[in-house]
Amino acid sequence: MANKIEQKKIILTGDRPTGCLHLGHYIGSLANRVKLQHECQQNILIADMQALTDHAEDPRLVRESVLQLGFDYLSVGIDPEISTILIQSMVPEIAELTMYYLNLVTVGRLEKNPTVKDEMKQKGFGKSVPAGFLMYPISQAADITAFKANLVPVGADQVPVLEQVNEIVKTFNRVYKTDALVECEALISQTPRLPGIDGKNKMGKSLGNCIFLSDSPDEVKRKVFEAYTDPGHIKVDDPGQIEGNMVFIYLDAFASDRKKVQELKEHYRRGGLGDVAVKNYLVEVLENSLAPIRVKRKELEKDPAEVMKILKRGTERARLVAAQTLEDVKEAMGIIY
Ligand code: TRP
Repeated sequence: MANKIEQKKIILTGDRPTGCLHLGHYIGSLANRVKLQHECQQNILIADMQALTDHAEDPRLVRESVLQLGFDYLSVGIDPEISTILIQSMVPEIAELTMYYLNLVTVGRLEKNPTVKDEMKQKGFGKSVPAGFLMYPISQAADITAFKANLVPVGADQVPVLEQVNEIVKTFNRVYKTDALVECEALISQTPRLPGIDGKNKMGKSLGNCIFLSDSPDEVKRKVFEAYTDPGHIKVDDPGQIEGNMVFIYLDAFASDRKKVQELKEHYRRGGLGDVAVKNYLVEVLENSLAPIRVKRKELEKDPAEVMKILKRGTERARLVAAQTLEDVKEAMGIIY
């Protein structure tokens, strides 16, 4: 066709609800979602079924975290009128799609998925991996294809999952001689994963090294003062190291006054600048981002039922789309009776 209509970008992104979101999520994905919602049609999935694949014994944590994610999303500025926020388990069409896709993927292929392999190692699953966990890339294929999403913002660690999603799409379309499903493109986060305050690992809920969006000013301050700096920088006059120094890593990620950060770095390297002074500045910088988020969150926390209502409204909207995809899928397979 001569005048090719430009395809609208449909985004599907999401999180597993297993706790509150932290600064790593904020710079890695949340800030980006707030921007992207104006440019694309954005769906944000609260993947509670996926969270259960490795938290089957703790459904309460998952349940409570759904609401926490609602607070997190709305307080950072995701607008539920333009982004669709949905709860995975309330869209049974996703589970149905998963059942059909399961037959198009071998167990061997799942076991070779680098993301799955890494996570299995981290969690020490070995042979006793729950079947639901092993097949989570397949349910993720259902999440994405249900909305015919063509753009999926993820961290680099999730790229092998998206490759597998596209394999499923291609296999489905080939086997059932259809174009019902749409391949997606990964939008890989350019911000490197933020390390935790321990300076050893990435910021991660299970590692106790996070600054959460929901932390109080006192907690933020306490954590900043605990953060790993340069153990060789003992006296104020000692020259200090910037590399691997959490305070400067966070300043690089969050401070808008680049010139001031540059000056602080030079001063610190020379000696004569104490940790306390830099840490106090970091608290100020973080509070610039966190204070407005906290105010909004406090407001939302007064009426959790209203937030749940917002999530349910998004889910209803999403369900209509997923139901249409499921119908297309069943039609392609010829299993409409
Ligand atoms: N697997 C993602 C995570 O590790 C969460 C997720 C579930 C997701 N379904 C998705 C991400 C679909 C992008 C698209 O947190």
